[in-house]
Amino acid sequence: MIYLNGDWLPIEEAKVSVLDRGFIFGDGVYEYVPVIRGRPYRLDGHLARLANSCREIGLKNPYSDARWTELVHEIARRNGPHDQGVYWQVTRGVARRDHAFPKDVEPTVFMMSNPLPQLTPAQVEDGVACYTVPDTRWHRCHIKSISLLGNVLARQFASERGGVEAIMLRDGHLSEASASNVFCVIDGRLVSPPKDHLMLGGITLDGVWELAAANGVPREMRRVSEVELRAADEIWLSSSSKGVVAVTRLDDVPVGHASHRGRPGPLFRRMYQWIWADMYGNTLPKAAE
Ligand SMILES: Cc1ncc(COP(=O)(O)O)c(C=O)c1O
Repeated sequence: MIYLNGDWLPIEEAKVSVLDRGFIFGDGVYEYVPVIRGRPYRLDGHLARLANSCREIGLKNPYSDARWTELVHEIARRNGPHDQGVYWQVTRGVARRDHAFPKDVEPTVFMMSNPLPQLTPAQVEDGVACYTVPDTRWHRCHIKSISLLGNVLARQFASERGGVEAIMLRDGHLSEASASNVFCVIDGRLVSPPKDHLMLGGITLDGVWELAAANGVPREMRRVSEVELRAADEIWLSSSSKGVVAVTRLDDVPVGHASHRGRPGPLFRRMYQWIWADMYGNTLPKAAE
């Protein structure tokens, strides 16, 4: 069952007007939260980011945090019992086509829930391949906008080459991937680009960052040049649907040095355990250790 503007419906029966500004202009924002064993992971972070995305595009957040929280629980419960990924979007609503905001229009709220995708054991154990692309997106990437054409084209480039993600470079520096944040390990430090307008501030990134601090990992938020990215000892992706995964091939070149060249590195292996415990509330199953 999906949720649309106050109604619960089978997805096939859910209909939105062709004049919806989400359809016409991509005028809306969205969120995606993993719900693991009935518990949304870091929901407060997602709700704060949604409120910020709404504020940034001048859209009134239609529901309170308490109402969103109820809905996330409700949709995950209705679609369970498996762990769920809850997606929802808010658009500026239905109005005659005109770029300027319409007056007195109710936003459209759509929420759906699907089984949470799982990394395969091979992706965890061997890492994944990524390809770099120029970051051709706008300069307000901190907004979780439903206008994702730049991200879609980037992902397609990687996907056609057998990569799981496209890692984007802007002005010779790392920004993020098409639907993930990117970390590097450089000289023994965990490095992330700063959470500014050139990337989406990931909620999983926040988790990784806190876990690194809690476990005494030296860390630094700063710009990462393309040269540093290509020479990094480790590269990881983080996102709500993936948790963390190691990038072990970048543009067909093995990542890292010495014994873990082309393999997930030692810091990744530790972070994977910490994030798993944080998300799943327990330690890794034996087989995955
Ligand atoms: C462009 C982009 N960057 C980063 C992320 C990771 O954010 P989060 O960890 O909140 O899922 C996403 C997630 O969809 C994304 O689309």
